[in-house]
Amino acid sequence: MSNNSGFVLWFTGLSGSGKSTLTRMLEPELRKRGCNTEILDGDEVRENLSKGLGFSKEDRDTNILRIGYVAKLLARNGVISMTAAISPYAEIRNQVRTMCGNFVEVYAECGIDELCKRDVKGLYAKALSGEIKNFTGISDPYEAPENPEVTVNSETQTPEESLAAIMEYLESNSLIPAVETAQA
Ligand code: ADX
Repeated sequence: MSNNSGFVLWFTGLSGSGKSTLTRMLEPELRKRGCNTEILDGDEVRENLSKGLGFSKEDRDTNILRIGYVAKLLARNGVISMTAAISPYAEIRNQVRTMCGNFVEVYAECGIDELCKRDVKGLYAKALSGEIKNFTGISDPYEAPENPEVTVNSETQTPEESLAAIMEYLESNSLIPAVETAQA
């Protein structure tokens, strides 16, 4: 049996802030509760749906509108569609919120100093040296959400704590069943 009410769980935050990690951690938890899920990950979308797009404001906005469109289609067919793209511009995020209807925005917060220190992909060093131009948080804007439904912070929380905060929001707003349901 699957739970049939879809919605969009939209992550926003700087590169390396934990968006993808959290979507991957959420997936089994949501499936245990009988929910259908899909992940639209920024890096993956750029390999497929948005191949060829760059990082100008125009291209980023196009990327976000495409992700929003697919997320909406999935959500209206009962899927919890989780997106993990930086989505740096508030106006486009709000446009997608309106388009999708059932929309939960999760702000993955992390200070730029910490992100530069972690630099898992080695991109912040390249952005700081100027090798990569227009890098979000270094040489390109990031507009933090003003009223996200959930804020998580990978500097002050463990991934498990962030996961728990998101699950708690979803449960207490009756977006997912409160108790794990047995799977056949
Ligand atoms: S968004 O701005 O359009 O939402 P998206 O999440 O798809 O961005 O892609 C961000 C990923 O692309 C980063 O995690 C990083 O790996 C890579 N990337 C490459 N160049 C840039 C750049 N100039 N700014 C941000 N991310 C970049």
